[in-house]
Amino acid sequence: MNKTWYKEGIVYQIYPRSFKDSNQDGVGDLRGIIEKLDYLKDLGISIVWLSPIYESPLDDNGYDISDYCKILPEYGTMDDFIELVNGLHERGIALIMDLVVNHTSDEHPWFVESKKSVDNPYRDYYIWKEGTEGKAPNKWGSFFGGPAWEYDETTNQYYLHLFSKKQPDLNWDNPNVREEVKKILTFWLDLGVDGFRCDVINIISKREGLPEGKWKPVLRGSEHYINGPKVHEYLHELYEDVLSKYNCFTVGESVFITPEIALDYIADWKEELSMLFQFDHMNADCFFVKWFGRKFKPVRLKKAMTKWQYGINEKGWNTLYFENHDQPRSVSRFGSLKYREQSAKMLATYLLFQKGTPFIYQGQEIGMTNAHFTKLSQYRDVESLNIYRIGTKKLLWSKRRMLKKLARSSRDHARTPMQWSNEINGGFSEATPWIEANTNYETINVKNDLKNKNSILKYYQKIIALRKKHEIIVYGEFIEHYPNDNKIVCYERNYEDEKLVVVANFTGKEVFQKAPYDLAKAKLLLNNYDDDDRILKPYQAKVYLFKK
Ligand code: GLC
Ligand code: CA
Repeated sequence: MNKTWYKEGIVYQIYPRSFKDSNQDGVGDLRGIIEKLDYLKDLGISIVWLSPIYESPLDDNGYDISDYCKILPEYGTMDDFIELVNGLHERGIALIMDLVVNHTSDEHPWFVESKKSVDNPYRDYYIWKEGTEGKAPNKWGSFFGGPAWEYDETTNQYYLHLFSKKQPDLNWDNPNVREEVKKILTFWLDLGVDGFRCDVINIISKREGLPEGKWKPVLRGSEHYINGPKVHEYLHELYEDVLSKYNCFTVGESVFITPEIALDYIADWKEELSMLFQFDHMNADCFFVKWFGRKFKPVRLKKAMTKWQYGINEKGWNTLYFENHDQPRSVSRFGSLKYREQSAKMLATYLLFQKGTPFIYQGQEIGMTNAHFTKLSQYRDVESLNIYRIGTKKLLWSKRRMLKKLARSSRDHARTPMQWSNEINGGFSEATPWIEANTNYETINVKNDLKNKNSILKYYQKIIALRKKHEIIVYGEFIEHYPNDNKIVCYERNYEDEKLVVVANFTGKEVFQKAPYDLAKAKLLLNNYDDDDRILKPYQAKVYLFKK
């Protein structure tokens, strides 16, 4: 196992639109982040992942890019960006950017050209096809619902978009496209960035001829682009030509993947990506896709997490996350609003003592909860609005039913403004924010948490400090106990002459503390309650350290 800085790092994800508004226009911006640099330093994190800040018509909040080398003016200027990079580096914090290159915006100049004629030099930057009998070329579906093809009358052909119709897929088989991507990587690396989070990177290579694919309830055709035929060749090319020349790392977002297949991208001896995000544990409260919810069961979460702990183990490196800008808030999903503080701390303990690089999403460190939206007009996310339309118009489901689905699973739950204080809009902005703040900012906010020594924020600071102090938390071998127990968590880590044991209660009721060792012989490193006996209080979590 090679030791490296990014394995030892702790990442904090910033969704710039919702982090901090510095000029009171209701939209978060780079100067807002600069204002909070010391907050990040005090939290102890060592890497920031910045969601897209590039020029974009914002159909998908910046995941639809119209210029990869310019900053969206709403977010600031290139000077602000340089100041941000320097400010982070001065504090010992690295920066990774979001690389969104499965698709561009339909307003990107490449696509504007591509649309013009079948012999335009940019035509082959995208994936165009003739229709069949007045219909789309095949029945492939979009991740946001509906068909993955859009008809364009200029040339009487269809273009492929696996996300919104304003996000046409790039044609990676075109070597010019790959050269453009390398230029983008080089541009940002030369500005000092330390790596990339690569958006939906395991779907960039589509099978030649774009075959129809077997019938599926959603995402028909996906077997022809998930881990597609040339994905490894293309990622290796980026690694060899650009990434390997810098001290940087990459984390790829990968959909529908197993640990075995993940190793094809990230095993220590592969020269492709450094680590991957996977989604197995995000199904602990739904069936396959989030719009079909089921009751959360701790054991399902545990099984998925453990599968990846064991599956990647010594061969590669895991990521650890419960939240990001696409997921509802973890305390609302996997914890309890009745025991918000205890369960937020318990989830932090369960997650952050496992093996892998942790990713903390803005607001998670203060236990932010899902939004309280009751009306469609409160939602902003293109995916939520699409699904609502498909549900009510095509499937003829009631508006109430669709609003219930959004209230549970919308990506907007993660996108409400960061709650800094109990001032208006949670101190995010004095202007009306682009998306409503969660009204619970009156009590749930950073300012309160900084004052209270038992706060969730202080607990995160403690865990982060422990991760930095004890190598065992980073590199120790993971072993789980009682995997089928739906009430408690118990796992250990082993490294050199130390053993670390995590025990936790995943329920709102007291449970008996089971452990494979005599914990009285160990040192208690962390506890989210004051008492330490053989009964675990609701969502109690404890960490013990043994010297062998
Ligand atoms: C990724 C992003 C998500 C975006 C999609 C299309 O899943 O995390 O926010 O909508 O890719 O770029
Ligand atoms: Ca602003």
